[in-house]
Amino acid sequence: MSQPDRYAVIGHPVSHSRSPFIHARFAAQTGQPLSYTTIDAKPAAFDHAVAEFFAQGGKGLNITVPHKEAAARLADELTPRAQRAGAVNTLAVRKSGGLLGDNTDGAGLARDLANNHRVSVAGRRVLLLGAGGAARGILAPLLGLQPSQLLIVNRTVQRAHELVQEFRDLGQLQAVGYDQLNGSPFDLVINATAASLAGELPALPARIVNKDSICYDLAYAREDTPFVQWAHQRGVARAMDGLGMLVEQAAESFHLWRGVRPDTASVLSALVAELRGSP
Ligand code: ATR
Repeated sequence: MSQPDRYAVIGHPVSHSRSPFIHARFAAQTGQPLSYTTIDAKPAAFDHAVAEFFAQGGKGLNITVPHKEAAARLADELTPRAQRAGAVNTLAVRKSGGLLGDNTDGAGLARDLANNHRVSVAGRRVLLLGAGGAARGILAPLLGLQPSQLLIVNRTVQRAHELVQEFRDLGQLQAVGYDQLNGSPFDLVINATAASLAGELPALPARIVNKDSICYDLAYAREDTPFVQWAHQRGVARAMDGLGMLVEQAAESFHLWRGVRPDTASVLSALVAELRGSP
């Protein structure tokens, strides 16, 4: 009997990744015979691990921290959105051979906001916290949703200014430091800093939100992230983490690999139950 097509997520660390859980459910739901595992590779071993995986017949990889920029360098061809992001979270074998690099993170965020949370970005004032790789990956899709304003705030202001230079052709974009945040509350605040991962919070003035603001953390954890807790403490009714984005970006990758779009809602529910226990 032929072996199922092989896929994996490669990162460091990667043992806590939920991607195998998600893709196993997508595969079962769509009747696609495939296996999906994790590969732990330190940065120095990344190129070799990728080459070995594909040489042994692997069909596709998801790329996670800290390898997304390295994956963009390694791909033979980039989709326009991966080119814009300068980062790749999905590698696929091209029909003509060689590797195609895509980035489904931004599309995952856009789908999660629109379909799972019914949040519209068009015409809204948006504050983006952070100017690292995660922020870079979602900027173009966010600007594509046509907010009236997109302000990037970063601890190292220079990095935020660099992103403005790079993405200003796509829409209204400005950069400030945390101590320059003033004026009226934002409609949507997205946390793309790595602070949550360390259990930390950026130095956020309370005035950036009111009860009608929506707060979104790209990070997720078993409990509420520090940013989601911060939002709730300030009376924000709608504060969510990035679990939905995780499932949606996975669905985009699955679609690229298999040509089939899985149902995400049922898998998101299963993931929430797995992570937090059934209500
Ligand atoms: P990633 O790929 O996860 O975005 P990164 O490129 O290292 O990782 O960027 C991390 C982001 O989180 C940066 O915007 C960083 O701010 P600096 O550019 O000033 O370093 C931000 N960050 C990390 N810890 C933070 C903290 N405790 N408070 C505020 N910002 C933080």
